[in-house]
Amino acid sequence: FEDEKEKGPNAEQKRWEEEHVGAAVLRFGARDAKDKAREKQKVKDYDFILDEEIEFVQALQIPGTKKDKGKKEPEISETEKKKMSLEETKKSLPIYPFKDDLIAAMEQFQVLIIEGETGSGKTTQIPQYLYEAGYCKKGMKVGCTQPRRVAAMSVAARVAEEMGFKLGNEVGYSIRFEDCTSERTIIKYMTDGMLLREFLSEPDLAAYSVLIVDEAHERTLHTDILFGLVKDIARFRPDLKLLISSATLDAEKFSQFFDDAPVFRIPGRRFPVDIYYTKAPEADYIDAAVVSVLQIHCTQPDGDILVFLTGQEEIETATEMLQERTKKLGSKIRELIIAPIYANLPSDLQSKIFEPTPPGARKVVLATNIAETSLTIDGIKFVIDPGFCKQNSYNARTGMESLVVTPISKASANQRAGRAGRTSAGKCFRLYTAWAYKNELEENTIPEIQRTNLGNVVLLLKSLGINDLIHFDFMDPPPHETLVLALEQLYALGALNHKGELTKLGRKMAEFPVDPMLSKMILASEKYKCSKEIITIASMLSVNNSIFYRPKDKVVHADTARQNFFLPGGDHITLMNVYNQWEETGHSTQWCYENFIQHRSMKRARDVRDQLEGLLERVEIELTTNPMDTVAIRKAITAGFFYHTARMDKGGNYKTVKYHQTVMIHPNSSLFEDRPKWLIYHELVFTTKEFMRQVIEIENSWLLEVAPHYYKAKELEDGSGRKMPKNTGKSRDEVTRKY
Ligand code: CDP
Ligand code: MG
Repeated sequence: FEDEKEKGPNAEQKRWEEEHVGAAVLRFGARDAKDKAREKQKVKDYDFILDEEIEFVQALQIPGTKKDKGKKEPEISETEKKKMSLEETKKSLPIYPFKDDLIAAMEQFQVLIIEGETGSGKTTQIPQYLYEAGYCKKGMKVGCTQPRRVAAMSVAARVAEEMGFKLGNEVGYSIRFEDCTSERTIIKYMTDGMLLREFLSEPDLAAYSVLIVDEAHERTLHTDILFGLVKDIARFRPDLKLLISSATLDAEKFSQFFDDAPVFRIPGRRFPVDIYYTKAPEADYIDAAVVSVLQIHCTQPDGDILVFLTGQEEIETATEMLQERTKKLGSKIRELIIAPIYANLPSDLQSKIFEPTPPGARKVVLATNIAETSLTIDGIKFVIDPGFCKQNSYNARTGMESLVVTPISKASANQRAGRAGRTSAGKCFRLYTAWAYKNELEENTIPEIQRTNLGNVVLLLKSLGINDLIHFDFMDPPPHETLVLALEQLYALGALNHKGELTKLGRKMAEFPVDPMLSKMILASEKYKCSKEIITIASMLSVNNSIFYRPKDKVVHADTARQNFFLPGGDHITLMNVYNQWEETGHSTQWCYENFIQHRSMKRARDVRDQLEGLLERVEIELTTNPMDTVAIRKAITAGFFYHTARMDKGGNYKTVKYHQTVMIHPNSSLFEDRPKWLIYHELVFTTKEFMRQVIEIENSWLLEVAPHYYKAKELEDGSGRKMPKNTGKSRDEVTRKY
């Protein structure tokens, strides 16, 4: 059997190589003498293609897949698949044979845990089955939550197409700042955060007959909170059905949490995936990933490639590198279609990843974690896994939250590898050593609730009337310290009173689907009479990492263009300036192009801004404008972000005021050279150092004005404020004793 397998692709590959004289010959894993001789012969061409080469060693297959089970499922070739109608495709999904059983189980039980491999049809099919079974009668809705925006949008589009509806009518989606549903919507996909917000307006979720908490294994903060809330409403709404759906083997844990709910398993259809590791650790995993893509492209038989990177920036870098290198190679290699996917990518470009690859070509999908389980891309046979993802990491001791590139868990690594074996046997190339996999990776990813700032969620729960957070039904409770810190922060922001009750301000803050610091900043703009400027800034901050366009071949021009927008005061003011100028041109695309501004980011900022304007109206704050008074604007920002204050010490280094953490101004900042003594930063990003991104200059006296609960005059003295006195107002103990 082993030999059989070897013959197939190798024979095909040889034929291909012969047809493509000049193509590289490079094999992964152990190479025999013949291979080596052949490589030598073509070494010139090979050199031309790749300066470097990554040596992989083959290991075993991923656990759970067996090479010779005897009865192998027939492979569905891509061309065959294309010919299949939507209806036939639906019937070919692993979940289809279980349709009736599933519906029967739903009738019988109120809560059901569903477990099935990614791609089995859980997300797209179950809501349709429920619709057919009559769960949408009398306008009742089937709701399905997704941890990721992109997944909610793309799945809704797919289901609308399968059912022959226009997206936004019967089938719709709702994500933060974008509601694509209507009165008629009966199947609604949404982010888990949006369903949480729906509790605010409709605490018993009476419009829903079924709620599907999908991708439960991801254990996002919002999903974890939803677990507690839906479990609770299910008790007093016996007519509500709950489905908890997961791609991995945590089903038992979910079952236990939901009072031993039955687990419905959809048997997977998985093909063997061979795992390869690098011989030595890779210093630069983006470069290594690019090299590996080309290696695969030049040496491996047909099949698309999926590369896991950590974010938009990395994906853009890798895309450029691949474009450059494939251009150099020209006709020496087959066509390589490069398809990136990440949250900020416009949806028309997103759909490119689902387009079938034309014969003869190969597609490489460069994706974030989203392709791990939320999205299924057909035709992937090769996975490249650098072993990293971007994770929120919150340090309750310092109150600092930053997005850091972190090694993935073993569970993630295996999910990623599994993506190569969905429609036929595949290969996964891990850009780390077998040793690292075994000894350095954690078994499972830590649930987000245990490593994030809880401010927003605490505010939301409080506004839902859940006061006793310590005894909330958490599947895995957050660390006590984190909860206390969130309460303290909300108290300092004025959202909670000293009894831990929601204040009037807090109730207004809860209306805004943004971080409490941001909503506080927005509400503070009323006092400083600059709400128009502040919502512009808030919306620009919500897309801030993708506003300035910086193509590699025009770096100097792009930087000059960016610097032309600089205004005294700092980066927030610069962002406002960009927006205002764009508005003056009548939202011109051409203007964006000339000024190295990303037009689609601006359009998104405009959408966000419109929503914020609507929310201001709801909390009855007038739109006031004061564009020249940057002191007022900066004070409003400070009123929300006083936690994020840094000052320069005697040595000329920046330290955060409360915790004396060393931080630096990001080189892209307009204040990089000015280096004011006091500043407020929007966020910290950790790359080589802890960088403050988006900073404004402030005066220390403002801090006393906007946050008297939080700062004492003494610690804000110029010079050194070594010892930190306790907060004024109520002490921490006094505040937290109430919970
Ligand atoms: O949720 P689960 O991972 O079990 O599967 P799914 O997302 O329902 O996907 C079932 C099938 O629909 C897969 O074969 C996908 O390729 C296809 N699909 C698609 O073509 N386009 C989408 N936007 C989503 C799914
Ligand atoms: Mg799914």
